[in-house]
Amino acid sequence: KKYTRVDKDTCISCGACEMAAPDIFNYDENGLAFSIIDENKGIKPIPKELLMDLEDAYDGCPTESILVSDHPFDADVRSDD
Ligand code: F3S
Repeated sequence: KKYTRVDKDTCISCGACEMAAPDIFNYDENGLAFSIIDENKGIKPIPKELLMDLEDAYDGCPTESILVSDHPFDADVRSDD
């Protein structure tokens, strides 16, 4: 299983992730990307049919802000840090 969240500290709102994976990523009120799967917590597995999109987004982010893991991200990590 794959989990993802966006590192908003390094996201520059380039928009590539939302283009590659519109069912996973969207923008918050500041124009920074976040995962709509689980409010950017990275604790819900990405549906199988979206894994290709996730990989495209991961590869396409110019600042490597798309974080992907085989394990859930720490649920204590706040999405707005
Ligand atoms: Fe930000 Fe990277 Fe997406 S810079 S908008 S996370 S492609």
